[in-house]
Amino acid sequence: MKSYRIASIPGDGIGKEVIAAGVEVLQALAKLEAFQLDFEHFDWSSERFLRTGAYIPDGGLEKLRTFDAIFFGAVGSPDVPDHVSLWGLRLPICQGFDQYANVRPSRVLPGIDSKLKGGKEIDWVIIRENSEGEYSGSGGRVHKGLPEELATETSVFTRVGIERIHRFAFELARKRPRKHLTLVTKSNAQRHGMVLWDEIFFELKPRYPEVQTNRVLVDAVTTQMVLKPGSLDTIVASNLHADILSDLAAALSGSLGIAPTANLNPERKFPSMFEPIHGSAFDITGKGVANPIATFWTASMMLEHLGEPKAAARLMKAIERTTEEQVFTPDLGGVHDTRAVTSAVQRAL
Ligand code: NAI
Ligand code: MG
Repeated sequence: MKSYRIASIPGDGIGKEVIAAGVEVLQALAKLEAFQLDFEHFDWSSERFLRTGAYIPDGGLEKLRTFDAIFFGAVGSPDVPDHVSLWGLRLPICQGFDQYANVRPSRVLPGIDSKLKGGKEIDWVIIRENSEGEYSGSGGRVHKGLPEELATETSVFTRVGIERIHRFAFELARKRPRKHLTLVTKSNAQRHGMVLWDEIFFELKPRYPEVQTNRVLVDAVTTQMVLKPGSLDTIVASNLHADILSDLAAALSGSLGIAPTANLNPERKFPSMFEPIHGSAFDITGKGVANPIATFWTASMMLEHLGEPKAAARLMKAIERTTEEQVFTPDLGGVHDTRAVTSAVQRAL
């Protein structure tokens, strides 16, 4: 029997609730599809940080590296500044494991009402550069507290970084039915890094003659997403731009609570990480009403990545059956809780 070692890092807030639901559904699926998932649970969280001074203990990343995949919840606590929690846990994994391709699909699942006219046409994959750009971490702060205090937040764009994300995007676009790729930058105002993004994109384009492309500025693409959702298919954008666009995409397709993401190291030198795109949601933590659909969807992406496409498709079908029957948590306008949605997906499996 095939078996996979999965590191589960629930993290904080509703991360704990949705990862527990995800592990339960994955174990039920593994039984049905006759493979084995060995989960190891990591308590890396803000609670651990407050207790020990570190999110990731010494040697933690070396240990994590030996797993086939990472199943991640969310990090963020009212008791820790957000930049400390994000840079303490999630970003060291993304950057340390060179998970440079962040893949974020959006689709209006059956039974879900997109608030958008024409929302049924949403079928996008946003590809976010995940290792450099605006979130490179480069910068600093000096003269703290003085009137001349100064902070820099330097966007870093390298030819290697840009080329590999564009290549990944062209290859993904080529596999999709519409084979259409939109390049999103802001190369009018950001005249160095973003111009390099554009140039490298058009250098690579001739190698993918079957892929249709266009280029849209990031501000303009927000209106296109709202007014002409059917005109977009695959989108490639920088770390910050795609971060923002994918929350918009999630909301337009129904809720932040259904949107999944994969942080991929495409060369498989390191494990990839799968997570819902949402955060730890302090406002609903502990109420048992977090929508677990984003986590189930990302679990399906994880199975695809592990080489279990049949199980991945089965899980996706079960998710769609559940949304079709409108077993919804409150974020989707329903009255059900995390438990009820989890049970419904298991029944549908
Ligand atoms: P958030 O995603 O946690 O919440 C935004 C809104 O969406 C809230 O009203 C929340 O209740 C709702 N929501 C999110 N996920 C939901 C779900 N599964 N079901 C139902 N409703 C859901 O973003 P926010 O409030 O900006 O951040 C809270 C904390 O999470 C912060 O500390 C932030 O830094 C962190 N964060 C962590 C991320 C990660 O670990 N990948 C991503 C985004 C935020
Ligand atoms: Mg985000």
